[in-house]
Amino acid sequence: MKRMGKVILIILGVLIVLFIAAMLFFKSYLNLNIKELSPNEKMLNGNTDKKALVLYQKSKHDTATNITMALAEELNQNGYTVVINHPSSELNYNVDDYDLLVFGSAVYMGTISGPLQKYMNNAPLEGKDVIVYSVGGSLDEKQELELLKGKASRAKSVKGIKVSKGQEEVIKSFIEKCINK
Ligand SMILES: Cc1cc2nc3c(=O)[nH]c(=O)nc-3n(C[C@H](O)[C@H](O)[C@H](O)COP(=O)(O)O)c2cc1C
Repeated sequence: MKRMGKVILIILGVLIVLFIAAMLFFKSYLNLNIKELSPNEKMLNGNTDKKALVLYQKSKHDTATNITMALAEELNQNGYTVVINHPSSELNYNVDDYDLLVFGSAVYMGTISGPLQKYMNNAPLEGKDVIVYSVGGSLDEKQELELLKGKASRAKSVKGIKVSKGQEEVIKSFIEKCINK
């Protein structure tokens, strides 16, 4: 009987440790979309006077960065000077200096970047052309993309796409269609 009690205690202990490990695992991903990253501007110089501002939240394994750089290169190949950075309250871009605004984030447990949402809430998007993108594993579920689109609903135009890891060509062809409409 005593032995039985010990076994139950060990099983309970293991379950509690597993539960805590799972919570810490999920929280580490959620934190990625909560954390405000330090600004880290990159610029691709274009051969026309068109300018695009691209703000995105980094993801754990750099999938969002890879997708963002593919998108930025496509804009650049179409003549745009592209400024790329992370959404932050420290940014002081004047959105009126840009012909196109692009906002993106990876999706973890249905959440997208908090700093990006905050930036979009406060930016004067009226009269602007906006593209939003989300990066996730479930391409059938697009609630977070609709949320991003909603954040830009006061813009002149809003287009959006959800892509997965490895879909650099998909986002490039989407961008090409958007800008050569
Ligand atoms: C803990 C966790 C939660 C996720 N939740 C979602 C989700 O709610 N919706 C979705 O489309 N993809 C979800 N994904 C898939 C990620 O968005 C996808 O793997 C993306 O490529 C993440 O970028 P990374 O590879 O740089 O980490 C999740 C992935 C992980 C690990």
